[in-house]
Amino acid sequence: MATYLPRPVLGVDYYPEHWPEENWRLDAEQMCVIGLKVVRIGEFAWSKLEPRQEVYDFDWIDRAVETLDTQGLKVIIGTPTAAPPPWMAEMRPDILARTREGQVLTVGGRRFYCPSNAFYRTQTFRIARELARHFLQNYSVIGWQIDNEMGNHGNCRCYCATCKLNWHSWLQQRYNSVDNLNKAWGTIFWGQEFREWSQVPLPTGTGARYSPSLELDYYRFASDNAIEYFNLQLEAIREFWTPQRGFITHNIFYGDDNIDFFKMSAGLDFIAFDNYPHGMKATSDLAFYHDYVYGLKNEPHWVMEQAAGPINWTKYNPAVAPGQTRLWTLQNFLRGVQGTVYFNWREARFGGEQYHSGILNHDGRQHRVYHEIMSLSEELDKLPDNFFRKPKAKVALLFGFEDLWALQLEPHNEAFDYLQILKDIHASLLKRHVQCDILPRGTNSDTLKEYSLVVAAAPIISDYDESNDWQRFVVDGGKLLLITRVGAKEPSNVWTDRPQPAALYEWLNIRVEEMLSFPPYLPGAHPNKLIGDTPADADVPVSLYDEVTGRTLQAKRLWLELLDPQEGTEIILRYGKVSDSDFFQGSVGLASCKLGNGEAYYLGVLPTAGTFDYLWVDLFRQECAPAVDNLPRYEGFEVIRTGDQGQYFALLNHNGYPLTIPLGTTYYKLDGSAVEQVTLKPYDVQFFRG
Ligand code: GAL
Repeated sequence: MATYLPRPVLGVDYYPEHWPEENWRLDAEQMCVIGLKVVRIGEFAWSKLEPRQEVYDFDWIDRAVETLDTQGLKVIIGTPTAAPPPWMAEMRPDILARTREGQVLTVGGRRFYCPSNAFYRTQTFRIARELARHFLQNYSVIGWQIDNEMGNHGNCRCYCATCKLNWHSWLQQRYNSVDNLNKAWGTIFWGQEFREWSQVPLPTGTGARYSPSLELDYYRFASDNAIEYFNLQLEAIREFWTPQRGFITHNIFYGDDNIDFFKMSAGLDFIAFDNYPHGMKATSDLAFYHDYVYGLKNEPHWVMEQAAGPINWTKYNPAVAPGQTRLWTLQNFLRGVQGTVYFNWREARFGGEQYHSGILNHDGRQHRVYHEIMSLSEELDKLPDNFFRKPKAKVALLFGFEDLWALQLEPHNEAFDYLQILKDIHASLLKRHVQCDILPRGTNSDTLKEYSLVVAAAPIISDYDESNDWQRFVVDGGKLLLITRVGAKEPSNVWTDRPQPAALYEWLNIRVEEMLSFPPYLPGAHPNKLIGDTPADADVPVSLYDEVTGRTLQAKRLWLELLDPQEGTEIILRYGKVSDSDFFQGSVGLASCKLGNGEAYYLGVLPTAGTFDYLWVDLFRQECAPAVDNLPRYEGFEVIRTGDQGQYFALLNHNGYPLTIPLGTTYYKLDGSAVEQVTLKPYDVQFFRG
């Protein structure tokens, strides 16, 4: 499925089991009227599909598929394993997950199962297999969604007795002997050497704190364990369904981080995510999550749940304004999405989501968004084939779940937020209309070679193979930008005994001499302040200066590394002085090292706007070319190039107010009219050639 579909697909998530059967035909007809082509069903219907153990009732779902088929709608079946039926938990209470605090989850909601439980695994395999076999000859069914939002609601980090056994076998596989584990984790610290596997605890709580090696390994185990559970379903469906017969996918929730989704996506035909913009912290997060989900397989993705109206799980659940659903949908397609499936068809009258919007209201009336989607699908129909193509970026940003977890466990400074740092980097490029792909840590040099600039921020866990790939990438002419906390830890999450950055030590002639962490206020100015207080000087930056030009920049006063450049290294920026306590002034903050045809850079501080300008505009101008030249930068204004030859571009206004954009030259709209300036209405998207 690595290829682009020539035309964008629209669809909807539908729960026929919530509504009287006599409604289904009208539902299907209306779906068809507004231009929907695919419908996802079934993902929470286990109690109806298997009302008692091994008594299956697929008749109703067959009738639902048939009704949808009469309108030419194609169906994606969701396996129902995110919500086990209550009879199963009564029969086998050991399928219930246990939280870190020891609370056993109960039935009544969803995602309360333990992914290790052998009985649950058997039941999962069986229902997935039964469904896969049942629908093989039904050509209205075009694909599968496994489970629903794996990793959501936290159940994949389960702390029950079965998980403890699985954890021990996982450790045995990784370390072979308890002695090896003791060495790898350094359990002699506080005299916690283990003599038997059975002595290794699940990290549910101890006096003081656990070894971060134990904790990181538990996170790795929980992720691998969830993927093992997930892959059972993949196997059950694959027995019947080849990629030619139909696809197998999964819908991740963008904010979840308990599972390494790069690994989990590997066996799928494509990956999808659930796009709830109002659940995100910033507008720029939308583009970040698209690029991240695309990067999970480095291939086009889907949105399996697209908010079409307000959601029900944030603080205020704000209204979705006219035009916003069109904007989000077009942004999806512009950022590499092949199919957008709206959540959901009709507002639920019962259960936990009665306040969640639908395309139809509770009483079946057509919401205004019904009409918005209808005119959007007419608009999409008029666009040429292959209109939507995610452009290939020249800049890549690396993402590592192990770095994320290691830094969640030991940020050392509570404001050091790995994901936010990546988002800030991505957003600073987005603001300059620069496309930035997101790739996993460990990406090999063949793929890296496709980029001119690769950025690795806080890649704290060393990977010695990857270091060779980075070296090759640089020697072959690439530019590598490293930003703080590089290779401080060995893979088992113990500190390196080499000079930092450990894995790069052989070829990068820059060392980290000292690391400094700062509270959010000036040291010395408030001797008795505790972390968490925010005095008036909280926003004081750190300064950097360029000795040659005299230029001064600002960066974040949060984390500073004093660099020790060795022979052949160029010093680019030194730390300046903002406050009297800046004893580090004069130390090196940015240095670079030429290698073969390329260059590696180490930045010892987290950038803010001024530093980003310096990086993207001064240092890496060539690598950071914008999608369209000379366009202004506004908050919420996005520019995306598209088309199979990159011959079109789109301007998006995410703001609730209009924007007037001087284009700097003449461009042509799709209808051929020439423009030099354009006004984007609130939430507008417009397309241009050129
Ligand atoms: C998703 C979930 C859906 C629905 C939706 C509500 O996380 O997959 O089933 O609950 O949120 O916004």
